[in-house]
Amino acid sequence: MSDNTIQLTKEQVANLQELLTVDSTIAQLIELVNDPEVNFQKIVDVVEHDPVITTAILRLVNSAAFGLPRRIETVAHAIKMLGLRQLRALVLSFSVMRTTSKVEPQIWLHSYSTSVLMSGLIDTNNLPVERDIVLTSLLHDIGRVAMRQLDQSLYIELNQKAEQEKLPINEAEIQHFGVSHDTVSDWLLEAWNLPDSIRTPVAYHHHDEPPDELQVETALLQVVDYVDLKARELPCKDPSSELMEAVGIQQEAFDELHEYQKMKYPELDESGIIGWPSDDGGATKRMQNLEKANTMFPKFQEEKDSKTS
Ligand SMILES: [Fe+2]
Ligand SMILES: [Fe+2]
Repeated sequence: MSDNTIQLTKEQVANLQELLTVDSTIAQLIELVNDPEVNFQKIVDVVEHDPVITTAILRLVNSAAFGLPRRIETVAHAIKMLGLRQLRALVLSFSVMRTTSKVEPQIWLHSYSTSVLMSGLIDTNNLPVERDIVLTSLLHDIGRVAMRQLDQSLYIELNQKAEQEKLPINEAEIQHFGVSHDTVSDWLLEAWNLPDSIRTPVAYHHHDEPPDELQVETALLQVVDYVDLKARELPCKDPSSELMEAVGIQQEAFDELHEYQKMKYPELDESGIIGWPSDDGGATKRMQNLEKANTMFPKFQEEKDSKTS
């Protein structure tokens, strides 16, 4: 395979423009949130004209990740709660989703069901985590889409090889691109000026060595990623035992989550999510699925007692 390899660089990835499918709403929002003297009411007006983005923003601020005591009902209030930094990440996620769902539906379906699993875990267990973590889950494999855009035939070939040889995709990527998608995802997030609260869990989502910061967020991302890939019978590496131990997550929790996700992902895949968020009907269905997932979710087990004793 040595004749079919390239060395991907940070510059190539940072310059990749095609990943952002920019329609007029997204373009307006990107411009507005990048403006230091932004007119708040203008952002609200643009968002209010897009029912799908409105729904997603309200859903996000009303999720347990925000821990707000009462329901937020208006776009203006929701955007105030989100803040410009998170709104920016959300807008970029929308843009990326539109591209990913078209060119790489499998990666998109995995990213989407991973983020639903993350949202369910946080909501059911009231986990004290960074509010960005649901967006982080949506964006975690964006490096795979970038690699595919940069060399489509090579990426398809390595995907097939990984499946045939039951090799985790990140190991096949290193053999062919000299780098794996966790690093490539981080390069992109850096180029888009996204914060460390998103970048660190993404950069470490296939690492054995725990990061210095955001260990709980990184551990949760490793768990939901692993659980969803396993449910889909795709090759994947176990979450880092060192990291799981550091944050007190028991390995047995994976089995319960695995059973849950095996049952859940086909339902999520079938709910018409391709094309989201441009397809309003599909988005509404997905919101309902999210609600359902949150109420059905198994309790996450933590090993607090055995750690302290
Ligand atoms: Fe990954
Ligand atoms: Fe993943």
